[in-house]
Amino acid sequence: LFSAVTMAPRDPILGLNEQFAADPNPNKVNLGVGVYFDDNGKLPLLQCVQSAEKALMEQPTPRGYLPIDGIPAYNAGVKNLVFGAGSEPLQSGRVATVQALGGTGGLKIGADFLKKLNPSAKVLISDPSWENHRALFTQAGFEVGTYRYYDATTRSLNFEGMLADLKAAAPGTIVVLHACCHNPTGYDLDAAQWSQVVATVQARGLVPFLDMAYQGFAQGIAEDGAVVGKFVAAGLQCFVATSFSKSFSLYGERVGALSVVCADQDEAARVLSQLKIVIRTNYSNPPTHGGAVVAKVLGDASLRAQWEQELGAMRGRIKLMRQKLVEGLRAAGVRQNMDFITRQVGMFSYSGLSKEQMQRLRSEFGVYGTDTGRMCVAALNSKNIDYVCQAIAKVV
Ligand code: LMR
Repeated sequence: LFSAVTMAPRDPILGLNEQFAADPNPNKVNLGVGVYFDDNGKLPLLQCVQSAEKALMEQPTPRGYLPIDGIPAYNAGVKNLVFGAGSEPLQSGRVATVQALGGTGGLKIGADFLKKLNPSAKVLISDPSWENHRALFTQAGFEVGTYRYYDATTRSLNFEGMLADLKAAAPGTIVVLHACCHNPTGYDLDAAQWSQVVATVQARGLVPFLDMAYQGFAQGIAEDGAVVGKFVAAGLQCFVATSFSKSFSLYGERVGALSVVCADQDEAARVLSQLKIVIRTNYSNPPTHGGAVVAKVLGDASLRAQWEQELGAMRGRIKLMRQKLVEGLRAAGVRQNMDFITRQVGMFSYSGLSKEQMQRLRSEFGVYGTDTGRMCVAALNSKNIDYVCQAIAKVV
């Protein structure tokens, strides 16, 4: 039965974790996967999460099945966070939101729904993009192409290229956009550029699918979410995948969501009914714990304030590490200007290092980043940064 099964390649991101775990190098540093670690190299368990868990434990509840679309209070919390409490689309009841297994789960529910709705549509992702975007939409049955995004020679956005490619896309093309903290490059559009993208998407009749996996890691929760408001204000229907893996440090709980902005309440009810079929036929309904924790934090003013403060501290520490990285590389003798690292936002730096250099970093120094040159600066700390800078200096 399985003799024809070929060996699949390792996942380009999560596969590095396996390699890292097997590496005996005592100095090894994992800058591969997008995970935030504190200055002691520890994965944080946020105080707001601990308080919410304590409160939940004090009133233990039996674990029945959740509704197919998840915990109602969780979905309400997501809606308020993504669209703003009291915003027009929420008041009109025209947003369908479902709890999902992380941001990836939200993307996949949306992809499967879109494939049924419009089987011949094409998908465009940024060049480069999160590796799993291409894989996920391809697995959902789509032909996946790219729009220009990053110019390696100038180490900056290729905004003209992006706009030209969106203008050339056929109506109905699904365009995957990173709402903030572009993964892997760390370069985001500014507000004026977003307005141009929104206008182009509207003029061409494209289908915007916003991936918001890092809300709060660029400027702040509201600031990073403003992009969604631009699409809504233009009267566009759109998809938004949300992840709380990073912002709540709840990676293993798989807490995310998919929101679909529809024309009116009736349409949202019909869309929701179809999203529920996708969920039911994949995993029936979501798990309880992570969603309950996030719902508790989002629904409680003081826990919510604590979350903002903790998220702000993560954001601040990442920014500090960017500065230290630039200074450390200079001190280690790297002559090329690395200031671009502080112009990037979010968890990653697109270092510009080649595949060969990244492989040398891994094999000779135990410093793990992806082959594309992406490094997770959120895993740097005051103890490992000098070692990482020395290692990079030796390979460039
Ligand atoms: C990443 O890009 O490293 C994260 O989004 C984790 C993942 O699932 O790939």
